[in-house]
Amino acid sequence: MTDLDAVLGNAGPTGLKERIAAELAAVRERSLAYTDADDDMLVRQHSPLMSPLVWDLAHVGNYEELWVLREVGGIEPLRPEIDHLYDAVKHPRKDRPSLPLLGPAEARKYISGVRGRVLDVLDQVDLAAPDPLRSGGYVFGLVLQHEHQHDETMLATLQLSRRPGLVRDGELPPGRPAAEPEVHIPAGVFTMGTDTVAWAYDNERPAHRIYLPGYWIDRRPVTNAAYLEFVEDGGYRDPRWWLPQGWEWAERNGVEAPLYWTRDGDTWWRVRFGREEPVPPDEPVQHVSWYEADAYARWAGKRLPTEAEWEKACGGRTYPWGEADPGHLGRWANLGHRAARPSPAGAFPDGASPYGVEQLIGDVWEWTDSWFQPYPGYRCFPYEEYSKVFFGETYRVLRGGSWATHPSAVRTTFRNWDYPIRRQIFAGFRCARSEE
Ligand SMILES: [Fe+2]
Repeated sequence: MTDLDAVLGNAGPTGLKERIAAELAAVRERSLAYTDADDDMLVRQHSPLMSPLVWDLAHVGNYEELWVLREVGGIEPLRPEIDHLYDAVKHPRKDRPSLPLLGPAEARKYISGVRGRVLDVLDQVDLAAPDPLRSGGYVFGLVLQHEHQHDETMLATLQLSRRPGLVRDGELPPGRPAAEPEVHIPAGVFTMGTDTVAWAYDNERPAHRIYLPGYWIDRRPVTNAAYLEFVEDGGYRDPRWWLPQGWEWAERNGVEAPLYWTRDGDTWWRVRFGREEPVPPDEPVQHVSWYEADAYARWAGKRLPTEAEWEKACGGRTYPWGEADPGHLGRWANLGHRAARPSPAGAFPDGASPYGVEQLIGDVWEWTDSWFQPYPGYRCFPYEEYSKVFFGETYRVLRGGSWATHPSAVRTTFRNWDYPIRRQIFAGFRCARSEE
């Protein structure tokens, strides 16, 4: 549910409340499924890059308490003494296991207590009120998307844990042979960002007009087979393809293939949620850093697209295929953990943009060449720590969501960001090149 204006128009505020309640129930079911494990699994830190799973679990409840209960409901803090433990800015991930966190049982009890009161607030609140937190149910969109984002983070933690048997798999449509591998996007002005998507974050606003010269963009994300050519061509051993910081990072960390890949003779294997399997050639490559994506692009005689080029290729709609909500098992994209992997190249022809660019939404987050910067006219809402403190030349923008991203937490204007060395996220890329 991303365009709530449509929902409001069709069903009125009561219908909207029912839909919010259903989405809240669904996201909580998801969070509880990912933390349905023994206590050791939940309290252990599987990587210094990630929080213990039990931190994520209580944090989503604490966030819901801060925004829905206190800000909108005017309710007194339930457990004021734990607030600081779950403040993502106060405690970096690597320090979180040493905090006196709520244990798994206590965390479940706390978040369910919060949720009960949240449903009371939802029942009472006027979603047509003019204030921006209430209007259109924005605050509920905020906490829903936040919890789904943490669910995706929890999946990345589960993948890092390498423990088998924790993640269900599902069916995906087959791939299709590629038509022309690149699509030409003609020069011209397009509208970037949004003023109208009801639950869009501050960093997606305001909509603004941008002129781009003509360019070519890959029709589909770069596949494992294509990436393997770079590996086999000695791409990781040739500094010509790398930015100096990227080369230094790869050397220092012994990086010579995507994360989770190992070579056995002539065969490349990967570990996926504790299962070892041959690297499937036709899936988009994932678990590569921005530096690796950038080096591949240079080796291929191309470059990464800017985020403006990526967004323009979507064709100016909420989704590349139009306005229809992707849903969990939609025919347009591989989202919402329908399977625990990207779909093969060409699997979603109906999801193509008007330009014919495929798999922009779902499968893998796509690294772009752009730093995470505010749009002209940016206004911080509702708090600085969501976007504003991250702007600058530290984080690269990722677009489009992955197979692990819930449909409610992605659209063509959605912006994600991370350090250029990060590879535990479900990220891949496609390439672009300027007109000659
Ligand atoms: Fe958070």
